[in-house]
Amino acid sequence: MKKIVSLFTVIFLLNFSVLRADEGMWLVQLLGEQVYGDMVKKGLKLTKEQLYSINGKSIKDAIVLFGSGCTAEIVSKEGLMFTNHHCGYDNIASASTVEHNYLRDGFWAKSKQEEIACPGLSVQFLIKIEDVTDKVNEALKTIKPNEIALKLFGVLGEMSAKAAEGTGYEVRISSFFKGNQFLQFTYQRYKDVRLVGVPPESIGKFGGDTDNWEWPRHTGDFSIFRLYMSKEGKPAEYAADNVPFIPKHFLPVSIKGINDGDYSMIYGYPGGTSRYETSYGVKLKIDIDNPSIVNLRDARLKCMLTEMVKDPAVKIQIGSSYAGIANYWKFFDGEVKQLIKLNVVAQKEKDEATFEAWAKGKPEYDNLFKNIKAVYDNWRPYAKHRMYINEGILGSPLLSFATNLKTLETQLQNASTKPEDLEKTKQTLKASRDRFFKGENIASDKNILAIVLKMFYMDIDASERPQAFYTALKTNYGALENNETYSKFSATIFDNTILLDAGKWEAFIAKPDTATLHKDPAYKTAMAFVNNYNDNYSKFYTEFIGANYLLNHTYLKGVLEINKNKPVYPDANQTMRVSYGNVKSYVPRDGVKYDYICTLNGIKEKYKPGDIEFDAPAKLMELIDKKDYGQYIDKKVGDVVVNFITNNDITGGNSGSPVINGNGELIGLCFDGNYEALGHKIALDKALTRTICLDVRFMLFVVDKLGGATNIINELNLIK
Ligand code: ARG
Repeated sequence: MKKIVSLFTVIFLLNFSVLRADEGMWLVQLLGEQVYGDMVKKGLKLTKEQLYSINGKSIKDAIVLFGSGCTAEIVSKEGLMFTNHHCGYDNIASASTVEHNYLRDGFWAKSKQEEIACPGLSVQFLIKIEDVTDKVNEALKTIKPNEIALKLFGVLGEMSAKAAEGTGYEVRISSFFKGNQFLQFTYQRYKDVRLVGVPPESIGKFGGDTDNWEWPRHTGDFSIFRLYMSKEGKPAEYAADNVPFIPKHFLPVSIKGINDGDYSMIYGYPGGTSRYETSYGVKLKIDIDNPSIVNLRDARLKCMLTEMVKDPAVKIQIGSSYAGIANYWKFFDGEVKQLIKLNVVAQKEKDEATFEAWAKGKPEYDNLFKNIKAVYDNWRPYAKHRMYINEGILGSPLLSFATNLKTLETQLQNASTKPEDLEKTKQTLKASRDRFFKGENIASDKNILAIVLKMFYMDIDASERPQAFYTALKTNYGALENNETYSKFSATIFDNTILLDAGKWEAFIAKPDTATLHKDPAYKTAMAFVNNYNDNYSKFYTEFIGANYLLNHTYLKGVLEINKNKPVYPDANQTMRVSYGNVKSYVPRDGVKYDYICTLNGIKEKYKPGDIEFDAPAKLMELIDKKDYGQYIDKKVGDVVVNFITNNDITGGNSGSPVINGNGELIGLCFDGNYEALGHKIALDKALTRTICLDVRFMLFVVDKLGGATNIINELNLIK
């Protein structure tokens, strides 16, 4: 997105590439005149009050944090909500069975009675925001500086809980600019959310992982839900007699269409960016962190896919988890490629040199980057090991679940453990075992477990491996270079662990004892790795995190000082942001220009009957052949526009966010970023960064013509 306006950034921009124009995810309640003025210049027709108002109604009242990491928008006076298909995926899968396979076939409620409850799903409205920097700083005074990074989350959690006490609201205090500012956000959570409509997966995820993070794109990435409240108008748990939620504001839906260059604005909850990352952090990512994650995920995904394609029940069972792992597997791979291509390390080094020149003679900043370098140098040797624990050993669902028993072990070993605490742990473990079973596919996990143990052996330095484990493995199962050694071992674990055997588990958890736990092969294996890491290497990570936080805090303090009186946007941290820009075509590489839209014709071009990624419903293909476009046609192209692109600055968490035109009307749902800009979390390239959006006209075309759900269309305020 869009200029922070050349006038006020230009001085800084001359020598500081971190903060370039045309980017930013802004806190909408803190929009300064300069940023707002730029929005108007780009095509916004609304007042600041219409964007965000504390007492009146404004666009922000139509935007919710959906589930744990997406955005949705309210589009009717009866609480109808749009979000992405991939945001609703888990709930769609949970509602599906092999007989009623909504994931595969889609689902359309033709009346409110047919809507499906979604246990566990909730949405949150932002109520208010306050600056609590002084209060947090006061609380942090009691903590040793190098422990702040580790304890901050706990401190903020306690303060948040206190602030929420007795209010009926939820409060979360978020850190901005690496702890240089703290803002307190008050939310209201609603828990009765019901599924209203979803296209077949072959529309909602058309193109699969091949097209994921790519433009040109032809994905109908949407799902439709409705929010309910109690008859008294309050948030409530699901109840059959709850009534549809009445919003303060809902978005009208424009089917007038879009043109290259039109104003576009995206509201939502972007999860996280690291735009102020240092060159040392970027190098660690490029050299170690990302390649490790990608290798391990690649192996795990293959094991999962093998089972998913064999059986629709397995697809329903682990499809959601697969999609999540695959999404960032491709992202982390692409991120490295783009960071290298765009020379981000060199960009950062330049920024750092500029900063050092500014900081000369200011003792607070003495040796800042020298110290940052030292902190990274100390941590680097162990970084891969940590990734191989998190994404490898704990990438096996069984081993990951097994580590949950550690608390129980500790409590059993401690004579003074209170019986009520032990009871609590037992209950927690029962619940987490139920959750584990919901997503556990034995065949896939058996292969995952075997492969991650081998990869750990092959890739991690011999001096860092849990020696006793591998020695015993070699003695009992064979050469450590052979796949069979690991598959035999894995099969034994699965055959013998009490965690998977209902009878043995019930007996154990009724009267747990350490001897049984210590004998359990799944627990033993998981803990061999986790204890080895915790006992010998986690201290280096703690040191790294503690010191790096303080140094970066100082760095950002300097950055803010340099930019005093200029608008500087903070990194995304899952708080509500607005990003503005324009619908915009781009040039991905020399000699190639990408159009700003993709149409139904492109679905026909990509269509591969029977393919797991590029199949499409027969009925859709018929509609395309008959050119039965109805009111959803784009007259100037003579086709339905499926997806379009803008240059808005967004990131993961913005999924499902409304794309809004200059009049405050919904024109699309943002659902992805493009491959050429996968370095965007760290450095946004303004020429290449695009947000991929679902055109609301394609969405309504599917709802109407394919789903026959005219009830949904009739509920909207359509602007024609
Ligand atoms: N890349 C998208 C995002 O992170 C998710 C797209 C889901 N589709 C898929 N084929 N995995 O928001």
